[in-house]
Amino acid sequence: MSTQRELGAIVLAAGLGTRMRSGRAKVLHELGGRPLVRYPLAALAPLGPARVAVVVGHQADAVRAAAAAAGLPDLRAVVQPEQRGTGHAVACAAPAFADFAGDVVIVYGDVPAIRTETLRALVDTHRRDGAGLTLVTVRFEDPTGYGRIVRGPDGRVTHIVEERDATPAERAITEINPGIYCVRSEILFPLLRELRPNNEQHELYLTDLVALAARAGHAVRTVTIDDADEVAGINTRAELARMEAATNGRRVERWMAEGVTFEDPATAYVGPDVIIGHDTVVGPNVVLRGRTRIGEGCRLDGTAYVVDATLADRVHLRFGSVVEGAEVGADAILGPFARLRPGTRLAERVHIGNFVETKQATLGAGTKANHLTYLGDCEIGPDTNVGAGTITCNYDGFAKHRTRIGARVQIGSDTQLVAPVSVADDAYVGAGTTVTRDVPAGALVVSRVPQRVVPGWTARRRAMAAAAKAGTAPVAPAARPVVAKAKAAKPKPAKRNVKTKPVARGRVRSRARRKRR
Ligand code: UD1
Ligand code: MG
Repeated sequence: MSTQRELGAIVLAAGLGTRMRSGRAKVLHELGGRPLVRYPLAALAPLGPARVAVVVGHQADAVRAAAAAAGLPDLRAVVQPEQRGTGHAVACAAPAFADFAGDVVIVYGDVPAIRTETLRALVDTHRRDGAGLTLVTVRFEDPTGYGRIVRGPDGRVTHIVEERDATPAERAITEINPGIYCVRSEILFPLLRELRPNNEQHELYLTDLVALAARAGHAVRTVTIDDADEVAGINTRAELARMEAATNGRRVERWMAEGVTFEDPATAYVGPDVIIGHDTVVGPNVVLRGRTRIGEGCRLDGTAYVVDATLADRVHLRFGSVVEGAEVGADAILGPFARLRPGTRLAERVHIGNFVETKQATLGAGTKANHLTYLGDCEIGPDTNVGAGTITCNYDGFAKHRTRIGARVQIGSDTQLVAPVSVADDAYVGAGTTVTRDVPAGALVVSRVPQRVVPGWTARRRAMAAAAKAGTAPVAPAARPVVAKAKAAKPKPAKRNVKTKPVARGRVRSRARRKRR
């Protein structure tokens, strides 16, 4: 009958949340990495409400922005300038519903575990029974802190009493008010005007609406649910921590049911927007946050922090890695102790090893950077090997510059690439090179201080030290000329180097010198 009626919703989020003892508005505190206020809004969204108002007050702009991120189409923020109670908060939303006729769901912003199914059951019962006001109730073993549901001899709800206003007999009631209501708009706003602050807090309590509706002869109905955890309110940091553990635990259970192995479910933290493919194994102490997507058959060894990242199938994330805003191709191996920063794009089979940092870096298939390396603002082709201690010098103190490295390139250890610079396909960069100019395809580039060999130096140095200690004649003058002689011999390639391509070295050096001149 009444399914034609429009559905509206009001979420209360104006309070500071004194019991949190925080400078931050309570609904901005995060659960699973998301501000609390987003949860009731997200639960409402599938019901397709034609109009939703969020009542803001403390840190209104920040709360408004957090609420907008829930992505509801017609979301209006209304300001409650002074927090005069939950009833006053709903009254502040009246202008946003001036031209609205339908059923209005009211949810408190501090009830983050609320599910769409419960809200749907609330609206369905309300409409089926043609009720004026319907509310969710639940039995709590320990009802401390909650409003108690008072029923008359016929079992009908007569009113709600807040704990601080309750008699000992009323306090013994275990059926409580989780703060989730559905009210016909035609009675909601007129009845709100009748609220009086006759209570210990001198506030206008939304809960008093129940007695007003019942007394005015409107049908008051209840939907009683079994799951106490779903409607627990967050008023203190301890409650927030308990809720974090409980909701996280449920998500981990859900992913285990979907075929994901957690080696230690108690230390796995999985955000509400995370997706994990089946047959993936998650080790201990792993934090998965934001819009993280993990493919099938992946292995996360343990102690990892992964935010807004996409890992394709069969990625192996070794121990102790941090991955933020990165895309990782199939069969890649990362870590241990790797740091992938935003804008990292790794194709399939890339290896990123220990103490390697990447940022705004695109690496082609099969490319490897296994040790002690910084790759920032760069593109690297496929099958390239980046040696230990390679650094893209992307920042000159004024601007960031890009490094381009082609396919099948060998970058020797301890190489600095001073951007902007490029190394074309199949080039070889000798160890210890500072690349300052573009390297053509297939070329060898090396820039290195020539090696000096001073035979017998150590023995003389030790003899000198021993003589100084014993107070005998210094041996030093004898040692120095040897070093000086060696210095004079500098331009000749050192004898020991003859074994390792002396011709190539000489050529590269002289060619480079010619070019510079
Ligand atoms: C409220 C209920 C209580 C219920 C409990 C469930 C009232 C009077 N009491 O108590 O019966 O058992 O929730 O969790 O409603 N808010 C405003 N403006 C205000 C006051 C509050 O927007 O002036 C918002 C808060 O930001 C919060 C929500 O309303 O999101 C609930 O306020 P809170 O102070 O937490 O109420 P409780 O004491 O928990
Ligand atoms: Mg509360």
